[in-house]
Amino acid sequence: MSGVFLVKGKTALKGEVQISGAKNAALPIMAASILCDEEVVIENVPKLLDIIVMKDILVSIGFEVSFEDNRVRVKHTSSKLNTEVPYELVRKMRASFNVLGPLAVRMGQAKVALPGGCSIGVRPVDFHIEGLRKLGFEIEVEHGFVKATRVGRVDSVKIVLPFPSVGATEHLMTTAVLMEGTFTVIENAAMEPEIEDLQNFLNAMGGKVRGAGTSRIEIEGVKRLSGGSHKIIPDRIEAGTYLIAIAATCGRGTVRGVKPDHLTALLETMRRTGATLGVGEDFVEVSMDDRPSPVDVVVNPYPGFPTDLQPQMMAYLCVGKGVSTIIENVFKTRFLHVGELRRMGANIEVSGNTAIVKGVEKLSGAPVLGTDLRATAALVIAGLMAEGQTEIHEAHHIFRGYENVLEKFAKLGANIEYVPTSEEVESDP
Ligand code: UD1
Repeated sequence: MSGVFLVKGKTALKGEVQISGAKNAALPIMAASILCDEEVVIENVPKLLDIIVMKDILVSIGFEVSFEDNRVRVKHTSSKLNTEVPYELVRKMRASFNVLGPLAVRMGQAKVALPGGCSIGVRPVDFHIEGLRKLGFEIEVEHGFVKATRVGRVDSVKIVLPFPSVGATEHLMTTAVLMEGTFTVIENAAMEPEIEDLQNFLNAMGGKVRGAGTSRIEIEGVKRLSGGSHKIIPDRIEAGTYLIAIAATCGRGTVRGVKPDHLTALLETMRRTGATLGVGEDFVEVSMDDRPSPVDVVVNPYPGFPTDLQPQMMAYLCVGKGVSTIIENVFKTRFLHVGELRRMGANIEVSGNTAIVKGVEKLSGAPVLGTDLRATAALVIAGLMAEGQTEIHEAHHIFRGYENVLEKFAKLGANIEYVPTSEEVESDP
């Protein structure tokens, strides 16, 4: 399913939106369920294309997986698992690479295709591979596949990540959980809330992991993980996207079912733009009645400003009352949305990993291209702010990360029409 969004602008969003479970927590937790001997039930899983890709991967490995009413059930059907994950599945989503370690630790060896190219810049897997080597795996990379074979057993391992990669932290901590007799320390670990959620899942199944949420994670390998159930945390990126959309349209609204603590960097930035925010235990309300004041945003690993909200924040700042600067330190070339925002009248210059956004009075609707998931979300926000109609081509990317996105925006009063086309969806990593 592919298609075009027709977005009618100049409508202030108003009302409430309920936030779904976090895709980026559900994916590594589903991958980690490979380690469990008994049935695993994961609650609050958003119905998204990426989750369906991970479900297909688990099925191809030999699990029986059901996905109904936001509940994923994973159970073994045979003791022999298929240890090769083909390119057709891995190319659709980068997070699928994270099944390599758990499968290899369980079966002695596994072979997973290298993740495909990506539209938000180079995203290598060298930290994953180096970490697996330290954990005692022999790694061969050939013909587009990575093969991991467990060759040695080590008493203690220290992995210092060159950069706090979310995926590498999750992959290595998951793999180390089932290495009985091995004590693993990951330093310079990523500190994202999704990593803490993964730790909670692993420990609920009998793992011994501590430190997630800090830069040092310790894992005492155990012999087996059982089964059980776990509820996924709310999606902070989905929540942030709606908060920005409401403020950008000079609206007033509330996102519900969130953990406001996970949104600190965003809320602080929005306050500086002049938005009025009210924070409750599990909700955030926002209102805005003017163009935003310009701000400087530095994108960094958590608890810094999230890269997955950078495009949306940039769309909002396009109509700022002055010059804003955005420095992107996570994916240094993540600026594909800039060209599209310019088509709508934005004045943005990019130099290296810095974007200078010179606020204009208004954006005007135009035909634009959704290049990846968050860029498409940014174009929806820009379209809602703009004068006239914006046509977002290849808008299907948004379905990878936003559950019931059209219904949720419609509930806030947005006018977005979806015109499906028949081209095949190629989800980017
Ligand atoms: C995850 C998120 C993604 C988010 C990103 C950063 C999931 C499924 N996806 O992606 O939405 O944008 O975190 O918050 O959770 N790097 C290397 N070598 C490696 C691994 C990473 O150089 O082996 C670099 C990347 O190119 C990038 C930086 O590290 O510049 C951060 O990437 P990483 O945190 O690994 O992102 P993902 O886990 O892929």
